[in-house]
Amino acid sequence: MALLEIERVVVRYGKALALDGASVHADRGELVGVLGPNGAGKTTLLRAIARMVPSTGTLRFAGADLQTLPPHRVAAHGIGHCAEGRHLFAELTVGKNLELGAYLRRDRDGVAQDLERMLALFPVLRERHGQIAGTLSGGEQQMLAIARALMCRPSLLLLDEPSTGLSHRIKRDIFQAIARIRRDGVTVLLVEQDAVSTFEIADRIYVLEQGRIAKEGTAADLAKDEGVRQIYLGVA
Ligand SMILES: Nc1ncnc2c1ncn2[C@@H]1O[C@H](COP(=O)(O)OP(=O)(O)OP(=O)(O)O)[C@@H](O)[C@H]1O
Ligand SMILES: [Mg+2]
Repeated sequence: MALLEIERVVVRYGKALALDGASVHADRGELVGVLGPNGAGKTTLLRAIARMVPSTGTLRFAGADLQTLPPHRVAAHGIGHCAEGRHLFAELTVGKNLELGAYLRRDRDGVAQDLERMLALFPVLRERHGQIAGTLSGGEQQMLAIARALMCRPSLLLLDEPSTGLSHRIKRDIFQAIARIRRDGVTVLLVEQDAVSTFEIADRIYVLEQGRIAKEGTAADLAKDEGVRQIYLGVA
């Protein structure tokens, strides 16, 4: 059974249809990529799963019906959401941001272990532990946002364009970290603009266009698709 099952989900912003019956699933341990042009509904898809926007259709996670869950209960159910634009506590230190990521947990030893794992995953955060988050570089802020989302020990991590606006080198570090997160057992739903890097690390890929799933398949199969090669991978 899939860990995440989204079926025929519709989201409207007023009269605008942002998701028009999209169906997406992720099996436990999978890394699933979502590509698509600007305005396709990628962020809306993650916001629907995180219950930040009302939707119709089926949203099931680990056998539970997410549609009945208020947004503030989503994290406690094991879904970590790393939203577009990072949303860190800019005035607080790196360490405090990570600590707050674990605010729902009472297992102090487990939290301390996870903190250590995050500092091993992103060594620059260890160096910056006492620094105010708002003064970090863009890449460091992105790493902190991912690490903070992982501090609630989610079984599903939703990532919205983690590599956007970052240098080639930092992008590579971020993608390597995402691959590592999946190897450590977290299921990942990754929305990205960098199709080439996403194809390298994802098991399966969905292409979202105008609120609908236009294409889906394993990364290996979709990489052979003519349209995908031309539009997303930049090869003829
Ligand atoms: N709060 C909102 N109110 C009205 N329309 C919205 C709102 N948020 C998004 N939309 C519209 O819904 C559609 C999907 O937006 P969404 O942000 O999900 O796209 P996206 O695929 O994430 O795009 P991008 O690649 O630019 O991040 C767009 O047409 C957008 O203008
Ligand atoms: Mg978006």
